[in-house]
Amino acid sequence: MPAMNPRSLSLRALLLLGLCHKISRASTPELQSQPRQIAIVGGGIGGTAAAYYLRQEFGAGVKIDVFEPGHIGGRLATVKIGNQEYETGGSVIHPLNLHMKHFVEKLGIPPRQNVPTKVAIFNGKELTFEESDWFIINFLRMLWRYGFSLLRMQMWVESVLDRFMRIYQYQQYGYSFTTVQRLLHAMGGDSFLTLMNQTLEETMIDEGFSQIFLNDMVAPITRVNYGQSVRIHGFVGAVSLAGADSGLWAVDGGNKRVCSGLLYHSKSDLISAKVTSIAVKVRPSKTGTATSFYEVSYDGESGSAHSLYDIVVIATPLHQGMSDITFSGFSPPIPSHYPGRYHQTVSTLIHGTLNMSYLGTTEPASEFTVSDILTTDSEGCAINSLSSIDPVHIPKGYKRPPASQPKVWKVFSQQPLSQEQLQEMFLSWDFVSETRWLAYPSYRLPPRKTPPFILHNRLYYLNAVEWAASAMEMSTIAARNVALLAHHRWHQQKSKMDQEDLHTRIRTEL
Ligand SMILES: Cc1cc2nc3c(=O)[nH]c(=O)nc-3n(C[C@H](O)[C@H](O)[C@H](O)COP(=O)(O)OP(=O)(O)OC[C@H]3O[C@@H](n4cnc5c(N)ncnc54)[C@H](O)[C@@H]3O)c2cc1C
Ligand SMILES: *[C@@H]1O[C@H](CO)[C@@H](O)[C@H](O)[C@H]1NC(C)=O
Ligand SMILES: *[C@@H]1O[C@H](CO)[C@@H](O)[C@H](O)[C@H]1NC(C)=O
Repeated sequence: MPAMNPRSLSLRALLLLGLCHKISRASTPELQSQPRQIAIVGGGIGGTAAAYYLRQEFGAGVKIDVFEPGHIGGRLATVKIGNQEYETGGSVIHPLNLHMKHFVEKLGIPPRQNVPTKVAIFNGKELTFEESDWFIINFLRMLWRYGFSLLRMQMWVESVLDRFMRIYQYQQYGYSFTTVQRLLHAMGGDSFLTLMNQTLEETMIDEGFSQIFLNDMVAPITRVNYGQSVRIHGFVGAVSLAGADSGLWAVDGGNKRVCSGLLYHSKSDLISAKVTSIAVKVRPSKTGTATSFYEVSYDGESGSAHSLYDIVVIATPLHQGMSDITFSGFSPPIPSHYPGRYHQTVSTLIHGTLNMSYLGTTEPASEFTVSDILTTDSEGCAINSLSSIDPVHIPKGYKRPPASQPKVWKVFSQQPLSQEQLQEMFLSWDFVSETRWLAYPSYRLPPRKTPPFILHNRLYYLNAVEWAASAMEMSTIAARNVALLAHHRWHQQKSKMDQEDLHTRIRTEL
């Protein structure tokens, strides 16, 4: 994707933009000036990316405050074991996640040095598949077992990804969407909306994949990436399968570095406080037209306070257990919590030695170098995955140790691991760290009506996008979309919102 400046487009586009400016200037004199103060609620990748893109849209003059009571990074977080840090939340990034790629380049943070991975699949009793060091052996094994299903799956995911990639071009040209549905429709037409209405299982059976393939190969991937079965909807299912592509990467020193980098780069002010309520206030103007603004109340270390903002972006899920914000004075009312729940994934990091018999294998531990053990959806399998993980910064000459040596393992499970479970899985250990995440939405059908991006005139909600799929890149796409929306709505540039047939139109505009 060319790193084109949206403002250096065609002359025609520029003229058009100028025209829109004039029209809106005539009708609403007050909105012509730039906003003075913008609040962002949440300092995860969504909130900090929003700070970055809002700065890009509104320029140096606006003050941007980011509210975050916890750690910058949110669901991107690390734990220290010995003198190394390890990711406990969002860990891998797809090679075609262009916003994340752009950020690390812009911020000058290198990607983490790559350590080759090796996958196995465990059914609770034994390993049903183990990748070998020999590519040709893998290929023959897979061919023997699953025919060309794997190849066809790759092609199917690629065709979804192809259409997904259109969003980057739209955003480069400044186009934005008022709902998640419209955003998805602009990328992939009705077929993307249909994906949201069917389970991944239904979708793939329709595409001719077998139930055995779904159980053996697809479910382990949805389980490790979303902690859920193949009954998640087809769109998040496709995103999940793309997360099993090759070339996945991470950020050197930890993915959360991107968040603090964006915060700094955008020259935003961090307010270490929890937002408790947002109230809409109306300010009558000299010209008689009333404008609304927002009063954000918050609790910080130095007590409670409140400030006024022209624009507010909510960058945290409005769900039970995630945030508790009261919205007052809005009509229609805005709920503190939207329907639907977030799925619990417990991330347990253990420094210890694996019990090879737990995996039902007689392979010598000294030769066992599998990095990711995925699991099938079978009774008696209490874990979603078991991975040998590498530190966020790879030391020089690092090689992933074999299972015979004590090292850091990461277990994903829906419930916390009991002492007995740990005893079964590990021969010994000297460190355990448990993080209970409300990790991503529960993607069970029937589909929920996706919450809106626009909660009120100039109050936006970024995490609505998670109901399509939750991933770092999804939050950044929503962040850019919301920044563009905020800009276009402020300047009343209707021509840049919810346009149909963008895919063909952009080609002819070039
Ligand atoms: C275990 C796990 C594994 C994952 N693996 C991957 C992966 O490999 N790849 C990938 O792309 N994605 C992965 N994800 C998903 C990814 O981490 C999330 O989609 C993404 O980080 C969400 O970012 P966000 O900024 O939208 O939300 P969050 O990171 O949740 O940020 C929201 C922030 O808002 C703050 N906040 C909440 N309430 C308030 C309030 N009232 N006032 C002020 N601030 C508030 C919170 O403290 C939080 O910091 C994973 C997630 C988990 C949990
Ligand atoms: C998907 O389901 C929703 C809600 O049930 C419905 O309104 C919509 O028309 C459906 N869309 C498609 C493309 O099937
Ligand atoms: C290792 O796992 C096996 C199989 O689950 C179990 O029977 C055994 O007790 C475990 N060994 C140790 C030392 O915990």
